[in-house]
Parts: sequence; structure tokens; C-alpha cells
Amino acid sequence: MSDERGCTCNETQIKCKNGFCKPSFWRCDGVNDCGDNTDEENCGNCKAQEFRCRNSRCIPAHKQCNGYNDCGDGSDESQCEKSIAVHCSDLTYKCKNNQCISKLNPMCDGEIDCADDSDEAECKCGTKPYKSSRIVGGKDSSEGEWPWQVSLHMNTQGHVCGASVISNRWLVTAAHCVQDSEKFKYSQPDQWEVYLGLLNQGETSKSTLKRVKRIISHPQYDHLSYDNDIALMELDSPVTLSQNIWPICLPEATHDFPAGKSVWITGWGKQREEVDAVASVLQKAEVRIINNTVCNKLMDDGITPRMICAGVLSGGVDACQGDSGGPMTSTESNGRMFLAGVVSWGDGCGRRNRPGIYTRVTEYRSWIRQMTGV
Ligand code: ARG
Repeated sequence: MSDERGCTCNETQIKCKNGFCKPSFWRCDGVNDCGDNTDEENCGNCKAQEFRCRNSRCIPAHKQCNGYNDCGDGSDESQCEKSIAVHCSDLTYKCKNNQCISKLNPMCDGEIDCADDSDEAECKCGTKPYKSSRIVGGKDSSEGEWPWQVSLHMNTQGHVCGASVISNRWLVTAAHCVQDSEKFKYSQPDQWEVYLGLLNQGETSKSTLKRVKRIISHPQYDHLSYDNDIALMELDSPVTLSQNIWPICLPEATHDFPAGKSVWITGWGKQREEVDAVASVLQKAEVRIINNTVCNKLMDDGITPRMICAGVLSGGVDACQGDSGGPMTSTESNGRMFLAGVVSWGDGCGRRNRPGIYTRVTEYRSWIRQMTGV
């Protein structure tokens, strides 16, 4: 990085104390972009020697991980070796026995945190079972690399959307994929073909074909704003799970996907904004989560709390038409993968300062459980 130090920053950038230039909209977004934290100083946050709680309170830094809930929301005890029992709130994880614990994202992290073991009880998901192992600006995936990725074909049209396997009977996709158009009845289950365990669109015979029994589009889906862009598909018969077909984990409502975290997007969508054809080999690309306030500014106030943005702001890496409904996959602490988002919308594809917008899956955890039992 030495070639990026001591440059003259332009008017869209801020100068870090260590000599880097960073985009101005990264200032005060809660991510240390400079590396020396200068972009996060003087943001009206906490003083030096203080810890900023998730509920925005400031506490003395030495009270972190002291076994007491000083923040009140448990966040000062959430990234420590030991989890403690705390009062339940919107930010804490609830065990089956109704006890709440302080640890951040404890579900299926490989450590038992709940007294009743419930945080590790349902974890047959998010791994690539037997293997170690289109998108703009991506690379080819290999077989079995994204075993939850599904290709949804509409009868005569071929591939139109992606989806994710969440159990042997249920898929998650985007609501905008299952809305009727003038020509096609996308909301009708019998119009769809579901390809599971597929890598190359030219080799559908090597994959598993299922049909759809039922489609549940989110009742509050708004086709103008794309708010609540999520839908569930029930397969006509259960699919046999295998090394190429495997569910992704659903994050609990309190799971945190912080800004700056790197995640993967996958799909057979267009590889450039200006082409028509979709990709033949499943594409993958790495993007970073962007803070909602920052994203809302970049996207002309079009972002609701039920959306999550991700991208590469210099451009060139993004989801595109045909990727919709597919997963934004986040690898969590012990390598297990969670569905952080569903490809929803964007302005063109891969444009500078125009990130991709995804449905924020944590917002729908209880709705999904209610509708599917998963
Ligand atoms: N709505 C598009 C589709 O139907 C996908 C949009 C994603 N676009 C983006 N630039 N991230 O496939």
C-alpha cells in the first residue's frame, strides 16, 4: 500500500493521519477505513479510552469483558471469551429456554453458549458437506461451492432468477421474481422449473429438477420501492440433500452483519450491464457490506431498514439482471455460511458509487419460521 500513502486527496476524499486518502462518505460510518481510525474520530461518538455500545452509550473501555453488563444491551460483553446472561432486548440472542445471552452471533458458531445447548442444536446448514473445497466482475464457481444456489427457470424463458435452499422443501427468493407481468404468470407455481445442484446452464441434465407446489410472496412487498422484496417457494417434493445441494443457514433477527464485512454474491445473471445474455457458469464475486446511512445517501434516499447494501464503490463488481433472488452469502466465525441478503435491485450494474441492494434477511426471520417451520 506504500504507493497510496502521501497522495494529494481530491475534494471527494478525506485525508487520514497515516497519509491515505479515503472516500468522504466513509467518514463516521462505524468502520475504521483509514486503518488508524482517523475517519471515525470526532463523530460525536465516544471519547478515547471509551467503548461505544451498540445502543450508542459510552462506557469506560476497561469495563469491556469484565463479566458485567455495563452497556445494558450486553454489547460490552458480546465479543469476549465467555458469554453472560443478560436482559433480553432487540440486540440479544434468545435461547430456547428464554434466557438471553450477551454474545454476538452465537448461533451455530461451534461453541455452546446457551445452558440448554439450543444455540448449537439446529446447524445442519451453511457448510460444504463433503468438500473442502452472473455477476459483474466475478469469477467462475466450482462444483459444490455454493450448494444452496438455485436456478429458477420460467417455462419458455430459461433462467430468470436465483434462489437459495433453506431446507429440503423450501427456497428463499425475491418477491419481484414472482410478480405477474403482462406476458408471464410468474406468481403461478406450475410455470416454474427449479434446478438444484446446477453449475453450468448448458448442463441442466446433470442437476436435479423440481417443480413448485406453493409460492408465498411477502404480503408487504412494494413494487415501487422494492421494500420487503422476499418470497418463499415450496418444492412439490422434498429434494435429497447431497454435496451439491445443501441448505444455507438463516441468521437470527439479532445477527449482526457489520459494515465493511466482506461477503460473496453468486448467480447466472448478466456479466455486464449492456449485454442481454446470462452467464453459463455460475459466477461469484466478493463485495463489502455498506452502512445503511451511507448507502441511503448514495442511492438517493431509496434505502429502507429492510434492505442491506453491498458492493465495491469504485465500481466493476456487482450483481446484475438475472441474479435477483439469489444469495448474498456471509461466512461467519467458524466458517459456517449464512444468508445475509437476497439480490434485489440496483441502478445499472457495477457503476461507481452505486452499490447493489439486497433484502435484509434478519428482518424476516420470524416470518420465514412462521410460514415454513424452518
Ligand atoms: N433486479 C435485478 C434482477 O431482476 C437484479 C438487480 C441487482 N442489480 C444490481 N446492480 N445489484 O435480476
